[in-house]
Amino acid sequence: MAGQLRYDDQVVVVTGAGGGLGKAYATFFGSRGAKVVVNDLGGSFKGEGTSSKAADVVVDEIKKAGGQAVANYDSVENGDKIIETAIKNYGRIDVLINNAGILRDVSFKNMSDQDWDLIMKVHVKGAYKCARAAWPYFRKQKYGRVINTASAAGLFGSFGQCNYSAAKLAQVGFTETLAKEGAKYNIICNVIAPIAASRMTETVMPPDLLANLKPEWVVPLVAVLVHKNNTDENGSIFEVGGGHVAKLRWERSTGLLLKADDSYTPGAILKKWNKVTDFSDPQYPSGPADFMSLLEDSMKMGPSDKGEPLDFKGRVALV
Ligand code: NAI
Repeated sequence: MAGQLRYDDQVVVVTGAGGGLGKAYATFFGSRGAKVVVNDLGGSFKGEGTSSKAADVVVDEIKKAGGQAVANYDSVENGDKIIETAIKNYGRIDVLINNAGILRDVSFKNMSDQDWDLIMKVHVKGAYKCARAAWPYFRKQKYGRVINTASAAGLFGSFGQCNYSAAKLAQVGFTETLAKEGAKYNIICNVIAPIAASRMTETVMPPDLLANLKPEWVVPLVAVLVHKNNTDENGSIFEVGGGHVAKLRWERSTGLLLKADDSYTPGAILKKWNKVTDFSDPQYPSGPADFMSLLEDSMKMGPSDKGEPLDFKGRVALV
């Protein structure tokens, strides 16, 4: 069809593509001319067990619809094997969608090392291993597109999910650095915080809400970001789901700048706390360089009004 974004002759690797969002990506790219590596370990949403069925079903579906796909059943912790499947079968890799994920929700008080470690292994190490294995191919061919998957839980925190939140915000830092390192090789990396009905969310959201959160409605944004024509968005963070797409960025308050000498005391900060929290004239920093220019300004300032001792009244007295 005229006007469609196409991915002909491109090889797309989707991790965790046996269900939910991953399946939606895989079937989409399979229908738009790409050769798809459908990776899935096939375990439970808590990361227990393995099965080849999840990936096989999706491969069959893509092939029946006239597309090309191959299954891979490795854990993302062995990302090199997943990328090897792409190279062995199709000779290249163009797009990597780091999507595989599990949950081990438990309050921080009751969290075990195993709950923490497993989440880090699948989300953080998994995304790293897959990207690391794809990177030399991307650099050599001067082309690559990566999507990493964060979550609102990572951006804002979520009760009972401190392991998952930590792993998901890690995707943001990981993406922002890969975007900077990859730019000159035309390797573009972005990160999404999706929301979609899947086995992960079906027990925590009501059915009427889930009906409006089809995984297929996350796909169009990912399709745009990994397309060869996207050279503008790199290192960006998006939230997406149910027809909504928005970009997120860091916002810094007006801030308080004081002379960094012995007048720079807790009391000096408290006296002007309203400036620390004033977002009426925000800045949008995009790197450490912005901060360095602030430090240069601080060196030109006079001493602060220290003003201790402080009036705490059970909590810090904010002026
Ligand atoms: P899902 O449970 O339907 O899909 C995840 C897939 O990853 C499963 O098919 C699973 O077998 C596979 N997987 C798990 N561990 C694996 C491993 N070690 N190696 C290979 N495959 C593995 O869940 P859903 O909702 O589709 O999640 C996809 C991604 O989106 C995950 O990273 C999740 O954390 C993230 N996400 C989803 C949200 C939602 O609203 N559904 C919200 C925020 C983030």
